[in-house]
Amino acid sequence: MKNIKNKILVTGGAGYIGSHTCIALHEADYDMVVYDNLSNSSREAINRVSTLIGQPIDFIEGDIRDADSLRQVFAAHQFFGVIHFAGLKAVGESVAKPLMYYDNNVNGTITLLKVMAEHEVSNLVFSSSATVYGDPEVLPITEESPRSSTNPYGQSKLTVEHILEDLALSDNRWSLIPLRYFNPVGAHPSGQIGEDPNDIPNNLMPYISQVAVGKLDQLSIFGNDYPTVDGTGVRDFIHVTDLAQGHVAALNYLTQQQQGLGFLPINLGTGKGTSVLELLTAFSAVSGQNIPFRFVERRAGDIASCYASADKAQALLGWKASLSITDMCQDTWHWQSINPNGYNIA
Ligand code: NAD
Ligand code: WQD
Repeated sequence: MKNIKNKILVTGGAGYIGSHTCIALHEADYDMVVYDNLSNSSREAINRVSTLIGQPIDFIEGDIRDADSLRQVFAAHQFFGVIHFAGLKAVGESVAKPLMYYDNNVNGTITLLKVMAEHEVSNLVFSSSATVYGDPEVLPITEESPRSSTNPYGQSKLTVEHILEDLALSDNRWSLIPLRYFNPVGAHPSGQIGEDPNDIPNNLMPYISQVAVGKLDQLSIFGNDYPTVDGTGVRDFIHVTDLAQGHVAALNYLTQQQQGLGFLPINLGTGKGTSVLELLTAFSAVSGQNIPFRFVERRAGDIASCYASADKAQALLGWKASLSITDMCQDTWHWQSINPNGYNIA
């Protein structure tokens, strides 16, 4: 007999982190329904996840801002909880199109929460981000560090966190866990799923891998005068499959609770900082490719260093990242080299 604590709605489950998490959920014996409007993903990702797990995915194409569509999904399934990945994530685009970002990320989440409340589903794992810490004064960053934001994307994540805090205060049945991801990179070790940016990548790892595979000419490194080990920015890169396991750990924790947990933010990072040059060197070594680069001006809005304290995740969830920078580069390279055009197989 199926345990009703096992059924999870995964919004945004066709995306980069969501698709990897679907595999981890399946391996941990959770059932899932994926709900995604495919605005930044493709059916091919769903097909590949189905192949990897050896069974069809229960997939619904829909928008989280569409309350009626969500209601139909909640009426058809008895969910234990929701993992909420759906949202837009490009910082630069959010500056150009703030209303689109607030509408998707904030209004979309409010609609989802309303429908959850109507159906008495009170467990939520939300994709938050280290961006809510702004420019951190103290490293490593703990969950108690001050929060701020410098762009509409970050503000949308921070606003959702505030909404979740207010909601938790209003009714003690809610358990609302924002997982604050640091810098997710890497791909599934099969090479079948990975990050597939629509356009020229904004983020470092996909940019490096597209230079390595010959799609882009050279990497521009934004600044070499930061107060870091080699002058380039330092980040806490975390393998996407470790991140996926963090979601399973959060759900497992929720299934053990007898009452609402309230608002419980948790960092998902490795606790280690790696510089841009260090990542580039590691990628070159793993791929055997020469990756041309040049130093350019700092990118507006960038910070020097950012890495997590991952202690709370370990203490509460028993979760700890296990994969190295070499693993992250190897799996990214595997995915990129066998899928030079991502999911666009035409
Ligand atoms: P992604 O774009 O690959 O996945 C997001 C998915 O949500 C996509 O499949 C997209 O089609 C879907 N979506 C967007 N708006 C929707 C809507 N209104 N209704 C239904 N579906 C919608 O991004 P990702 O990297 O997998 O990120 C997942 C979540 O994690 C996002 O909320 C993102 O902000 C957050 N996050 C990502 C990173 C990162 O660096 N990748 C870091 C921190 C936080
Ligand atoms: C990492 C480092 C760059 C590209 C962003 C979002 C954040 C979160 C994760 C969602 C920095 C340098 C980059 C390039 C470079 N997303 N870089 N050349 O900025 O830490 O975080 O993604 O929540 O909100 O802001 O990640 O990968 O863009 O940059 O030199 O072409 O690489 O300057 O030091 P970032 P990133």
